[in-house]
Amino acid sequence: MRAHLLTVIPTMRFVLPAALLLSTTLLTACSGEVEDTRPGQPVKTRQQAFKAMIRSFEPMGVMLRNQTYDADKFLALADELSALRDAPWEHFGPDTDYPPSKTTAEAWRQPEKFARDKEAFITATDALLAAAQDKDRERLDMPYQAVYDACRDCHKTFRKR
Ligand code: HEC
Repeated sequence: MRAHLLTVIPTMRFVLPAALLLSTTLLTACSGEVEDTRPGQPVKTRQQAFKAMIRSFEPMGVMLRNQTYDADKFLALADELSALRDAPWEHFGPDTDYPPSKTTAEAWRQPEKFARDKEAFITATDALLAAAQDKDRERLDMPYQAVYDACRDCHKTFRKR
């Protein structure tokens, strides 16, 4: 049992911070050169909704990476992310594939996969919020990484690079 722990834990400590560093790639693609002139600005609105999500999500990663974990601040951010996570989706109407959208055509071609990726993300944020409520620093890397992976998985298919 002890040998098992010794082999597994150092690997995780080595791998996780490197993986968490990759989260900076989520920050890219926010240039917005073209103005959204449509009524209601659905494209701009969903982009702003994603930006708001990353403003809650990213500081959690910074705390985990920099050993500056503060249980109450982390929980407040996880709460914020949960409050923001439903905002983008209603703005992906069928006629919203126009500049400055960075959504790939796949979002409309594969609506079921898009919905599945969204559900996986929602589930991951539930787990992160539950872990944040437990306030156990040792049990936060995995659920944080799972949310990160859910963001990235959806972007792979549905967000232009
Ligand atoms: C189910 C799919 C999906 C999930 C999950 C998802 N995104 Fe996105 N994201 C998109 C799509 C599609 C776009 C492109 C929006 C557009 O420009 O039309 C996008 C755009 C963005 C943008 C750029 C916004 C801009 O101004 O151009 C950021 C930042 C972002 N996402 C961050 C995140 C973060 C952080 C998460 C997880 C906490 C996340 N996304 C989860 C699909 C997703």
